[in-house]
Amino acid sequence: MESMAKNTDIERKLIKEIDKTNLPNHIAIIMDGNGRWAKKRFLPRTAGHREGVKRVREIVKACGDLGIKYLTLYAFSTENWKRPKDEIDSLMKLLVEYLKKELNTLHKNNVKINILGDLEKLPSLPKQEVFNAIEKTRNNNKLILNIALNYGGRDEIIRAIKLLAKNVKDNKIQLEDINEELFKEFLYTGSQPDPDLLIRTSGELRISNFLIYQIAYTEFYFTDIYWPQFTKEHLFKAILDYQNRNRRFGGI
Ligand code: FPP
Repeated sequence: MESMAKNTDIERKLIKEIDKTNLPNHIAIIMDGNGRWAKKRFLPRTAGHREGVKRVREIVKACGDLGIKYLTLYAFSTENWKRPKDEIDSLMKLLVEYLKKELNTLHKNNVKINILGDLEKLPSLPKQEVFNAIEKTRNNNKLILNIALNYGGRDEIIRAIKLLAKNVKDNKIQLEDINEELFKEFLYTGSQPDPDLLIRTSGELRISNFLIYQIAYTEFYFTDIYWPQFTKEHLFKAILDYQNRNRRFGGI
């Protein structure tokens, strides 16, 4: 299987260079450029998504092996419903296929699957597969794999405010008790640490409504590589780049 491929010489060299004591705890990725990758090869867009799933497998495995604790992948945004029905269907199908094929391996590798987004709006088959994957992996704790599905950052914040407001209305939380720590618990990411490193592929320099509350102090890494070409080698380079940054969190 491709994701099980042994590391190449370059990959081994990069792994050696990575400081294992200073790994990003949480990596978030905007997997962009599947369509353009396919177009360049005169292939349908869905072929790009299919190739993209191979990279998902490879990157999840590499993060687990390296000891990354949280990985968040932007798989489908609240805005992606505007795409042609064919493409939406094929993305949902790929997600179902991925979960069906990979669930046992993910479980064996102690990966916990978590979803960020409103699952209620998903078609019934993907919804079922997703619930099954969450249930099966609920006690795992090596790598938390967040899949952002029907996810939007603004949507997430409004949802959190509504939940919080309901608690205030019901007298379960006092207005004075609301602070950053309490508020974050109402986001899909709950008590998880904020991303340390956000990667976006394909050369676009935007955030596209992804984790907009959580990325206040996140380091950004943009690369021109299209997602279907983003291999472990690129992941390791992104981590090395991150390790050369000087994070001050507003201090000096
Ligand atoms: C962006 O490329 C990619 C997406 C909208 C979907 C990402 C989904 C996958 C990689 C597959 C399913 C995910 C999982 C977790 C199994 P684009 O279509 O916007 O590319 P373009 O900007 O070049 O058109």
